[in-house]
Amino acid sequence: MSRAEKVAVPKTELPQNVAIYAHGLDFTYNPKSPFAKQALCNVDVTIEKGEFVAIVGHTGSGKTTFVQHLNALIRVQKGELTVLGHDLSVRKPDLKALRRQVGMVFQYPEYQLFADTVLDDVCFGLKNFGIEKDKREQMARDALELVGLDFDSVKAKSPFDLSGGEKRRVALAGVLAMKPQILVMDEPTAGLDPRGKEEILSLVSQLNREENITVIMVSHDMNEVFENAKRVLVFRDGRLDYDLPPRELFRKEEEIASMNLEVPSMAMFLNELERSGFAIEDDCLTVEEVFQAVLRLKEARDA
Ligand SMILES: Nc1ncnc2c1ncn2[C@@H]1O[C@H](COP(=O)(O)OP(=O)(O)OP(=O)(O)O)[C@@H](O)[C@H]1O
Ligand SMILES: [Mg+2]
Repeated sequence: MSRAEKVAVPKTELPQNVAIYAHGLDFTYNPKSPFAKQALCNVDVTIEKGEFVAIVGHTGSGKTTFVQHLNALIRVQKGELTVLGHDLSVRKPDLKALRRQVGMVFQYPEYQLFADTVLDDVCFGLKNFGIEKDKREQMARDALELVGLDFDSVKAKSPFDLSGGEKRRVALAGVLAMKPQILVMDEPTAGLDPRGKEEILSLVSQLNREENITVIMVSHDMNEVFENAKRVLVFRDGRLDYDLPPRELFRKEEEIASMNLEVPSMAMFLNELERSGFAIEDDCLTVEEVFQAVLRLKEARDA
């Protein structure tokens, strides 16, 4: 089915494997003022633990507004939202527990960094949760090394003296140090060079595969969405318009173009192959996977 499915599940019956459940979620900035702007409209979505979900859509379509609900940076105005069992539509959700479990890397990571040193920045959340000094330094070291930074050479630096890519890694380390169950990233690779992008994405994919961390990634880069996400949510004017696996979504070349989104180059190639009568399995998305699939077709033809 092409349109995002709308199935209402009463909150009390949410199965254990549900990470995020939104039903009828609406949000308006500056309500009841002449500047009122509805940014989310009747969003229904259920995401299971361990999924890797990309969120795409034209600028201003509501992506950031939606993901900022997930750790209650934006509070629910209307509708239902449950994240890891926390009902966020109540007046006083347990924000401390929620924010430990849901790590958020902001759209502009430089806004996320504020301490005098990288070490203090990465340790900030751990300190808030009462983890003692030696233990938190060890956890900060592990997290910084996980994101590819050398602990001893960056720990005493000011986060503001780092490059854009390094800042992003420090922001990610601060979040990963908390060992979140859900990792929400708002355009984590924007402005990075291809190698920086690749390193962040392969780390996040690895965390998703090996640690079963649920990943929610907002992105404008359809190629990275195609290669990494297993499911893509498309927002348009605050509505969730499509909720599909990447291969299925990017077969809809005309609809994608009408939303001012790009069709990933690999999807274009696969669509072209398909139109010429070569059927490639839907789970082949990377160059290597498609190459192997083409080889299999060749072997079958030669046999
Ligand atoms: N703080 C705010 N006050 C008023 N309106 C806002 C605010 N933040 C966002 N909006 C408006 O809400 C709508 C959704 O914005 P949002 O930031 O969620 O979009 P987005 O999909 O993340 O866009 P982008 O791709 O540019 O990051 C837009 O029309 C935007 O102008
Ligand atoms: Mg945004």
